[in-house]
This record gives sequence, C-alpha cells and structure tokens, in this order.
Amino acid sequence: MSANYTSRKRHLIAGNWKMNGMLQEAEQFVHDLAENPAPDHIEVALMPPFTLLHPMAELLSEKDVRLGAQSVYCELKGAFTGSISPLMLRDAGCHYVIIGHSERRDIMGEANELISKKLNVAWNNGLEPILCVGEHLEERQDGETNSVLRQQLSVLEDAAQGVALTLAYEPVWAIGTGLTATPAQVTETHAFIHEELSRLGHDCRVLYGGSVKPDNAAELMACPGVEGALVGGASLQADSFSNIVQAAASVAGA
Ligand code: 13P
Repeated sequence: MSANYTSRKRHLIAGNWKMNGMLQEAEQFVHDLAENPAPDHIEVALMPPFTLLHPMAELLSEKDVRLGAQSVYCELKGAFTGSISPLMLRDAGCHYVIIGHSERRDIMGEANELISKKLNVAWNNGLEPILCVGEHLEERQDGETNSVLRQQLSVLEDAAQGVALTLAYEPVWAIGTGLTATPAQVTETHAFIHEELSRLGHDCRVLYGGSVKPDNAAELMACPGVEGALVGGASLQADSFSNIVQAAASVAGA
C-alpha cells in the first residue's frame, strides 16, 4: 500500500438521493446549497433520480457541483424498456454514475457479471463510476468482510489501469440504519480496500457511506484512507448536506 494515498485526490462528498426528489424540492435544494459554497479542496456531487438530471444540470450550471446518476444500463440504445443509457446520462450532463450499490445488488439482483458490463460501458462513454462495495452484517460477524470485498472488487481485474474510478465502501448494515462503522472498523477496512486496489492497479479515492450525518462526518472523514463520503438520507436537506461538506473540509485540510 502506498503511504501517501490519502493526499492524492480531492475529497468528494456525494449525495445519493435514491428514489427521492421532486422538481420543486430540487430547485429549493440548489438555491439553499448555494448559500454555503464548498471550499475549493472539497468536491461536491449530487446523484438525483433520472427525472431530475436535466433540470439539475441547468440549476447547477455556474455552481461548482458535479452531477451523477444512480445507475446505468450496459447497452447504448434499443429495446430495453425502463433502462437508461450512458449516452443519455452524458447528454444530461452527468460526470459520475453509481454502480454496484447494495440496493441494486440486493433488491434488483445485480451481480458481478452485470456490474462489470456496466463499468465498461461507463468508461467507454466518458462516465466516472462510483463503484460501491460492502458486506452484510452476518458476513462481518462471521469474519468474512475482506473476502466479500475482495470478491466484489474482482470486477476490476480486467479493467484498464488508469481509468477514472472512485470507490465507495458502504457496509450494508450501516445504510439507512443510523448505525455507522466505528473509526477503527472504517480505518481497517479502508486500508484493506486500498491494498486490494493497489494490487489490482487502481489506486483510486475511497469514500465511506452508511449513515453519514453532520455530527459524525468529521470523525469518519478523519479516518486514514477515507477520501470523502457517499451520503444518502442526510443529503436530502441542503443544510445537513452542507454541514457534512463543511465537516469534511475541516478535517481534509486545504
Ligand atoms: P444513508 O446515508 O441513508 O445511510 O445511505 C447511504 C447510501 O446508501 C449512500 O449511497
């Protein structure tokens, strides 16, 4: 593991709105967020539902906030009812796309084979994947965390080195539950993920996700190997999201 991996990239605070958000709420959110701009050393991104991508791109123009999507299909166009193409996401102004979120793995049954295809289609069409990995509670209790993460990260084995990539470690038991991994668990797990990433030739930024809130963000962001957060529930209100950005800024250093 390289010793200075934490300082290579700007920290990213990304808000995953999941299946939440109406147009009027998005307008208010962007208006309120603009009152508290992020410091230069913190990157901010929002992943609203697909219906809000085009209007959000417009609302966010002139603001230093990147746009991302929560998912993508692995084909460019055609008879795939209900799916969204990477070309459409680019057309809507997306930079990021979340791939492999545990809700898509567990609820929609997405597994490594499809996740690999999605990664490739994202890279081939100018999107930066935020690849999510994380173990279930029983897997952690059974001491299987590292083997689960290694298996999830194996989708990167055949990927070209140097591709645009952000990782997010989201322990499934911490998502939407109010439970967070302890700083010791976060530090240990991020170190393992960074080691695996180095071995696979993808020495990229690793975010933490799972009940990140304004009152725990600074402690989580201060853990070695944590280079930002993927925020769910607390990203739905501009003030709590801004407070997380400010907390991250205070520990990330300029
Ligand atoms: P919560 O912050 O609501 O736990 O969600 C985390 C998450 O799944 C972000 O992708």
